[in-house]
Amino acid sequence: MKNKKQHKNSSKTIDTLLIENRKFKPKDSFKKQANVRNADIYKTARKNPVKFWEKMASELVWKKKWEKGLIWKAPDARWFDGGKLNVTESCLDQHITNGNRNKAALIWEGEPGDKRTFTYYDIYRDVNKFANALKSLGVKKGDRVAIYLPMIPEIMISMLACARIGAIHSVVFGGFSPESLKDRINDSQVKLLITADGGYRKGQVIPLKHDADVALADCPSIEHVVVVNRGGFLLRFKEGRDHWYHELLEKADSFCKPTYMDSEDPLFILYTSGTTGKPKGIMHTCGGYLTGVYATTKYVFDLKNDDVFWCTADCGWVTGHSYIVYGPMANGATQVMYEGTPNYPDKNRFWKIVEEHGVSVFYTAPTAIRTFMYWGREYPDGCDLSSLRLLGTVGEPINPEAWIWYNEVIGHKNCPIVDTWWQTETGHILITPLPGLTTTKPGSATFAFPGIEAAILDENGNEIKNGGGFLAIKTPWPGMLRGIWGDRERYVETYWTKWKDIYFPGDGAKIDSEKYLWILGRVDDVINISGHRISTMEVESALVEHESVTEAAVVGSPHKIKGECMVAFVTTLKSKKSESELAKILTDFVSHKIGAIARPEKIIFTPDLPKTRSGKIMRRLLKDIASGKVLGDTTTLADPNVLSKIKSKYED
Ligand code: PRX
Repeated sequence: MKNKKQHKNSSKTIDTLLIENRKFKPKDSFKKQANVRNADIYKTARKNPVKFWEKMASELVWKKKWEKGLIWKAPDARWFDGGKLNVTESCLDQHITNGNRNKAALIWEGEPGDKRTFTYYDIYRDVNKFANALKSLGVKKGDRVAIYLPMIPEIMISMLACARIGAIHSVVFGGFSPESLKDRINDSQVKLLITADGGYRKGQVIPLKHDADVALADCPSIEHVVVVNRGGFLLRFKEGRDHWYHELLEKADSFCKPTYMDSEDPLFILYTSGTTGKPKGIMHTCGGYLTGVYATTKYVFDLKNDDVFWCTADCGWVTGHSYIVYGPMANGATQVMYEGTPNYPDKNRFWKIVEEHGVSVFYTAPTAIRTFMYWGREYPDGCDLSSLRLLGTVGEPINPEAWIWYNEVIGHKNCPIVDTWWQTETGHILITPLPGLTTTKPGSATFAFPGIEAAILDENGNEIKNGGGFLAIKTPWPGMLRGIWGDRERYVETYWTKWKDIYFPGDGAKIDSEKYLWILGRVDDVINISGHRISTMEVESALVEHESVTEAAVVGSPHKIKGECMVAFVTTLKSKKSESELAKILTDFVSHKIGAIARPEKIIFTPDLPKTRSGKIMRRLLKDIASGKVLGDTTTLADPNVLSKIKSKYED
């Protein structure tokens, strides 16, 4: 069983995962009340996955039932073909008449401590009004609307208001720079932007409207900007273009007839990093996506009518789309939303929120758990966490040490942990324990969700029954991406060319002798920092845009808290500045170009980069240096001396 010595060095996630053998069975008390108690669900779903998903879809509100569960012509899926719906009827309208009308839908806390609670009726009314306001500003079905907001209730209301009228939302994380916002707006020709005067983070006001104005100087498709008054921060308004959200709501009618959409009509675009410098606009549709997030929320989080669910993600990421907005709302959940950071004003802020609102189901990222571990258990120990009954993680592999800490210090050994694997592209959870059924192993996301067929394949598509390889999803699922906005070729090339008609997520994984799946991390040039995907190419392109940089190579390196961090190796023109001054200038520059999450942890200045004779930078060797590994094959290097110089500089 537990072998302390073996687990000491668990920051080396992959190594540790290979030797983890502890098991945790669900407790009888949990099993008895679980939404899924019978393991036959796997068998039934395997026999006829489409029927399984049709059954889940039938629990949602449809204007017209679909004619065909699935039409699959790889790589294109049509789920619930011929069906018509508006997703807000499942998320809102049904709750107005099914007894949930006065139930708390959203309990919100701002970082400074301000609080607002919205019933289902409150959200319904504001979504209807805002949908009418958007219409009055000329937004129509199929138009793109960008949302650049802090974590305030209006972010959820805005997303649902777009869905109400069939507009496609594109939420841009509030931490992204004006330049990133601009690129995303221009890529999909956004017509209207919703932002706020500001939002609170780490006790500071983030000036979103100001940043949006910088971006909008170069966004010709934008016709209107709606501004939420978060804090009464002074701003400049552009006459005719800018409108206050609250003034629009005051004027708007309180009912907006839903625009009925084909099941396969787009619901949203969400940009994520790929292996090139240009983010991909991942496209999701209405019927399949809603079915996927509804079913997984119900079965993975085991939601009950009196649960208080808290997913700590930001709506700027897919986790916020699926497990704050669409999944929980379609399930009629009560949930908590928090605007700020976990250490404001003190390191116990999350646990105070759990205590105050009686959070029962809590979903967060491994990087947050590692941060809490680092801060010390006195913070959670000082709060009453007895309301918790289920814990979840997402975004990156969780090292067993963090899993055990989560189980003991937060869950008091009383809460099953669901380690959920999925992606922006998959739309919803695909690999996960079912909390009332699955015996978990720390660090393993365990098994594919019912109706999902996951496997480990080698380069040639042969299945690996016990050992490591590439993760593959062999059959279509309802929430799968339907493409990349404006780039069919990239869609096919990225996900569908490794093997024939099988989805390639870009992750390495292994399967053990008991068929448990262990996700080991990305196998491409994308790295996962604090659960967020950053493309090394994107950061390289930003760096070489700086006047002093001639070449740059960026690689991932293991990091105790963040999981991974970025190390940049750069060559520069001669400069009078010291290396530390230049490093600061360049990290600020990347932060300005992309956003603070993309800041390199370390910049190494080097007169040359390791290259092949044909001039290709050998990032693989830089990665070995940054990971403290023995250097791989160096025989193809044009000048092997470069490497030893870089290595000694790195280790300095
Ligand atoms: O590498 C996997 C990792 O996060 C990637 C997806 O990132 P993103 O699209 O930003 O979505 C994050 C939230 C769903 C995956 O390709 N990942 C996600 N969940 C896990 C994970 N790695 C290991 N274990 C997980 N539970």
